[in-house]
Amino acid sequence: MVSPKTPRLFSVLLVFFACYVSPSSSRVSLSASPTTLTRANRTVTVRWSGVDSPSELDWLGIFSPPDSANDEFIGYVFLNASDGWRSGSGSVDIPLVNLRANYAFRVFRWKREEVNYRHHDHDNNPLPGIRHRLAASEEVRFEAAAGPDQIHLSFTDREDEMRVMFVTADGAESFVSYGLDAARLGNISATMVRRYERKDMCDFPANSSIGWRDPGSIHDGVMKNLEKGKKYYYTVGSDAGGWSPIHSFISRDGDSNETIAFLFGDMGTYTPYATFYRIQEESRSTVKWILRDIESLGDKPMFVSHIGDISYARGFAWIWDEFFNQIEPIASRIPYHVCIGNHEYDWPTQPWRPEWSYGVYGKDGGGECGVPYSIRFKMPGNSSFPTGTGAPDTQNLYFSFDAGVVHFLYISTETNFLQGSDQYNFIKADLESIDRNKTPFVVVQGHRPMYTTSNEIRDAPMRERMLENLEPLLVQNNVTLALWGHVHRYERFCPLKNFRCADVTSNFTSIGGAPVHLVIGMAGQDWQPIWEPRPDHTDVPIYPQPERSMYRGGEFGYTRLVATREKLTLSYIGNHDGQVHDRVEILSGQILKSEDEKILQSGGDAVLVESVLPWYVKAASVLVVGILVGYVLGLITRSRRDSLERSQWTPVKSEEM
Ligand SMILES: *[C@@H]1O[C@H](CO)[C@@H](O)[C@H](O)[C@H]1NC(C)=O
Ligand SMILES: *[C@@H]1O[C@H](CO)[C@@H](O)[C@H](O)[C@H]1NC(C)=O
Ligand SMILES: *[C@@H]1O[C@H](CO)[C@@H](O)[C@H](O)[C@H]1NC(C)=O
Ligand SMILES: *[C@@H]1O[C@H](CO)[C@@H](O)[C@H](O)[C@H]1NC(C)=O
Ligand SMILES: *[C@@H]1O[C@H](CO)[C@@H](O)[C@H](O)[C@H]1NC(C)=O
Ligand SMILES: *[C@@H]1O[C@H](CO)[C@@H](O)[C@H](O)[C@H]1NC(C)=O
Ligand SMILES: *[C@@H]1O[C@H](CO)[C@@H](O)[C@H](O)[C@H]1NC(C)=O
Ligand SMILES: *[C@@H]1O[C@H](CO)[C@@H](O)[C@H](O)[C@H]1NC(C)=O
Ligand SMILES: [Fe+2]
Repeated sequence: MVSPKTPRLFSVLLVFFACYVSPSSSRVSLSASPTTLTRANRTVTVRWSGVDSPSELDWLGIFSPPDSANDEFIGYVFLNASDGWRSGSGSVDIPLVNLRANYAFRVFRWKREEVNYRHHDHDNNPLPGIRHRLAASEEVRFEAAAGPDQIHLSFTDREDEMRVMFVTADGAESFVSYGLDAARLGNISATMVRRYERKDMCDFPANSSIGWRDPGSIHDGVMKNLEKGKKYYYTVGSDAGGWSPIHSFISRDGDSNETIAFLFGDMGTYTPYATFYRIQEESRSTVKWILRDIESLGDKPMFVSHIGDISYARGFAWIWDEFFNQIEPIASRIPYHVCIGNHEYDWPTQPWRPEWSYGVYGKDGGGECGVPYSIRFKMPGNSSFPTGTGAPDTQNLYFSFDAGVVHFLYISTETNFLQGSDQYNFIKADLESIDRNKTPFVVVQGHRPMYTTSNEIRDAPMRERMLENLEPLLVQNNVTLALWGHVHRYERFCPLKNFRCADVTSNFTSIGGAPVHLVIGMAGQDWQPIWEPRPDHTDVPIYPQPERSMYRGGEFGYTRLVATREKLTLSYIGNHDGQVHDRVEILSGQILKSEDEKILQSGGDAVLVESVLPWYVKAASVLVVGILVGYVLGLITRSRRDSLERSQWTPVKSEEM
């Protein structure tokens, strides 16, 4: 509308719009309180009164910075969110995050005849109109020197370290103070600072004035020489800028015989207002239940794996800020690890885009081209790939670490993974160098699935390449689990090799590797493509469910991995009740000592598998399976189904993933 090259004209227009108040509403008053938000209470109450003939379409715009143009709101709420809005006055409470710029609020009248379906959000809902501004509030700021926020931990390449990253407004010299005693945080590390700029963004909306907001400065500090498995306390910040509250974490312990992790993909972000994208309400429950687990598991090393499609900011910069605030209660306590997903990266001129991938790689990154992902996180290793645009290289593509008895490998499905590529060579070398005595279990994770029974067709050419190039590596190296996201459902497969179960219907002895694949993209993003109905079964998902697909769940949630030297258990926790809905147990064979011993002894190499098959399959069956997957002697499956839950199916909303 207004070219950035005409600031003078722009100001004139602003003044014009500021003075343009329709006569009937000159009495509208709008106030926000408190005008200074604190870390302890960042909820603002916005009150209005004097709105004549209130309409359902009257709305409150949230702006930051306060001089943003009327159509450059970060979000909005309709005034009818307030009880009694029909009287022309009301109030709403809005929890805000620190965007390092002040907020301001404006009330607009939007008339039915002005509703423009061509100017719409991602869900095709028309965006509210800005023709009639009725009132504007004073500015709301955050208290000064309150310390950094968006704190998140991650592993480094050393077991005696822990990385902590956080955001400040100005990038001023900041530190991490840490120690074993909360009252004496005697050890100090400096932090490195990185930023990214609007010019680093590769496409709309990330590079536009609608989507771009200053991301602040991202600090990266490393706590060093940590003792194993101890509770450390830390704070981040500086005397000038203030210090964060004191947080704690449990340091890594390479000798530990236990592993705990929370794994999921595609979570997204909740915001307390409508914006240009649909809000991911379910992400709040995922965070809530993981926090419950962290509390109840106590002082043990744990971590999170969020395997791509992270904040779903897609070029609307403040959604990253909301996201990091949302996960901070988790990520300031346990390391938060990530894979790159299409929604962090894909853009039309991405450098690796072979012909077969034209329909696979699109514009899903909203023009971010991996830059916020690469700078806001720092994962182990040093994988990187040029953007080819002058923007910083893409990082955090592939890396691995040991956590207790499990070796975790993270890969990128968004950049070259074909034979001969750097990534392929890394994956191969990594899998071939695992010490299975130390880590009897191996978990590989990437964003787009190698297997899915969804009606997902867009990525079919990619799945072919993954099967051709990567599956042999997983099979030959006896990978235990392969976890994928992207499809917003939970689906667990039998131990698989080239679409064939290592066996589920009769006794058998396996002769090679057969990783159990799972799709775990159910953490919050609610666009549901997936199991589309067939014309002759319009009320059910793809039917019948293939044999290799042992459990499909439409409920949002996450998975919880608990492994000891004997056994790895992966549980699917549903968000509506926080309970386990499916579970797979895999024995390592290292020490045959568990409650399943009796079962194991019953058949030498053969192991009894108990399974309640998903709801569309009438007969439950008892299977006897003997699998030799490296150290994996067997696999015990227990599915518990909530028949009420399963008898419903959420209709297809969209193709989006
Ligand atoms: C936080 O501030 C809001 C708005 O002023 C107020 O309604 C709320 O009671 C406050 N909450 C706490 C816990 O102080
Ligand atoms: C408020 O108005 C919006 C826009 O017309 C409408 O979609 C919504 O259902 C209304 N909400 C309530 C609580 O009435
Ligand atoms: C941490 O502080 C203690 C006590 O001052 C000191 O002995 C130790 O060397 C410090 N460790 C590091 C890694 O600086
Ligand atoms: C954003 O990027 C696209 C693609 O490179 C370009 O066409 C457009 O002009 C850019 N917009 C701005 C405001 O720079
Ligand atoms: C883990 O198990 C190994 C092998 O049984 C044992 O040597 C080691 O002491 C155990 N580690 C811990 C921390 O208990
Ligand atoms: C980092 O990259 C270099 C090559 O550029 C490689 O030799 C080195 O091993 C890598 N370090 C890690 C931790 O992967
Ligand atoms: C599995 O094989 C054993 C020995 O051959 C046999 O006793 C058992 O009945 C078989 N179980 C099933 C479910 O077929
Ligand atoms: C994988 O498991 C098979 C069967 O137990 C075994 O023969 C092979 O040596 C294992 N391969 C690796 C790389 O561990
Ligand atoms: Fe995705």
